[in-house]
Amino acid sequence: MEIKSAEFIVSNTDWRKCPNVQLAEFAFIGRSNVGKSSLINMLTNRKGLAMTSSKPGKTLLINHFLVNNDWFLVDLPGYGYATTSKTVRENLKQIINDYILLREQLTNLFVLIDCRLTPQNIDIEFIMWLGENAIPFSIVFTKTDKLSKGKLAENINFYKQKLLENWEELPPIFATSANTAEGKTEILNYIEQILKDIGE
Ligand code: GTP
Ligand code: MG
Repeated sequence: MEIKSAEFIVSNTDWRKCPNVQLAEFAFIGRSNVGKSSLINMLTNRKGLAMTSSKPGKTLLINHFLVNNDWFLVDLPGYGYATTSKTVRENLKQIINDYILLREQLTNLFVLIDCRLTPQNIDIEFIMWLGENAIPFSIVFTKTDKLSKGKLAENINFYKQKLLENWEELPPIFATSANTAEGKTEILNYIEQILKDIGE
């Protein structure tokens, strides 16, 4: 799919205040610093569209980006950012969970995982929670430029085995790099297919 336009629309702490239009939303979630905002910039070809930082805890709001005047990419705050206070953490968790559970326009959630890490409990538990709540999701491994091809394949296989302990079927899985744009075509094609399927 060709990205003809991408523009920031609004930031919110509350899903109820998000754009009051019936357009499909594709949201990005994952641990703080995993590369959610960078992936949005990579997919849209616009470097400064979503704010990124080398320090975790950059995105603290629900951010809507309108693409091709037709659908939204949604940047969410990260979870598991240990150095913020418990109150801030709980508050962010509430914002994220409410958006995921209650936002009707949410069409697919991309769960981002740093490809360098072994499966982390916080991610595995989050994915289980999505399953329990029947949220449609896919998994996106990020920062593939930081690993050799061999090590990447090994880590992704290991992750798949871990998921198969709890799941009968694997969700769609993508390998991406915001630096090399690996995975861009695959994710955009996937979004395009979903939009076609739901008749957008
Ligand atoms: P929060 O908003 O804090 O939850 O983080 P985030 O998940 O949005 O991460 P962000 O996109 O801000 O990126 C965090 C850091 O990782 C930045 O320093 C990015 O430059 C770096 N980064 C993101 N994606 C990649 C990637 O594909 N490759 C490499 N090498 N670095 C990346
Ligand atoms: Mg961010």
